Amino acid sequence: MSNIIRVENLVKNYQSGTEILNILRGLSFQVPRGATAAVQGKSGCGKSTLLNILGGLDHSDSGLVEVGGLDISGLPERDLTEYRRKKVGFVFQFHYLLRDFTALENVMLPAYIGNRKKKDALKKAAFLLEELGLSGRAHHYPSQLSGGERQRVAVARSMVNDPDLILADEPTGNLDRQNSLTVVELLYRAVENRKISLVVVTHDEKVAERAHIRFELVQGVLQEA
Ligand SMILES: Nc1ncnc2c1ncn2[C@@H]1O[C@H](COP(=O)(O)OP(=O)(O)OP(=O)(O)O)[C@@H](O)[C@H]1O
Ligand SMILES: [Mg+2]
Repeated sequence: MSNIIRVENLVKNYQSGTEILNILRGLSFQVPRGATAAVQGKSGCGKSTLLNILGGLDHSDSGLVEVGGLDISGLPERDLTEYRRKKVGFVFQFHYLLRDFTALENVMLPAYIGNRKKKDALKKAAFLLEELGLSGRAHHYPSQLSGGERQRVAVARSMVNDPDLILADEPTGNLDRQNSLTVVELLYRAVENRKISLVVVTHDEKVAERAHIRFELVQGVLQEA
């Protein structure tokens, strides 16, 4: 089976004043296409940094970062923008929904911007909202939704452009136990239905347990847990 992610010897340092912080220290790992992977590790160990590099939101210092067979570490900004729009979907701890748009509009927006016809974008978004148990909430604004519902809208939005990979950084970090289990179950089911690969950063044992592969980030490298 081919790998959706292949990372070799990834190094990332940050400069903090005169100090150099060695965050990722020659990290290597793979994720097979269609698989789900959880990444755990102590606060500040570099989990978000790793996810941001995989998503083309941050640059590595050296190493190979291949997603879907494409080495993204050397891509010019224009191609990276294209990569972020078409190949990956993001879910963050905070939903980042646009407050002046309804749930449906928030979900269809990335598809619309990605030159999909409005009618197709609408259909796709409505379908995703239904799958995430939100068909009755399509015309609500973010302020009219609960925390768990907002996060489910964010999950729907991350999938609207048919990405190969979803990157989720503490997607349930702001939710209570019951809501976080619901959101996570729906997220896993939606990616599995579409054979989308998932990398989820989480502190929650329950969220990690559900993944095919579990990693722990320790001292700048990923270990299979
Ligand atoms: N732009 C930056 N400049 C300097 N240092 C940074 C920068 N971004 C992150 N860091 C540092 O890099 C380290 C890793 O940060 P990161 O956000 O990846 O951790 P994390 O594992 O996601 O933590 P948490 O679980 O708390 O979200 C931290 O020590 C952080 O302070
Ligand atoms: Mg983080």
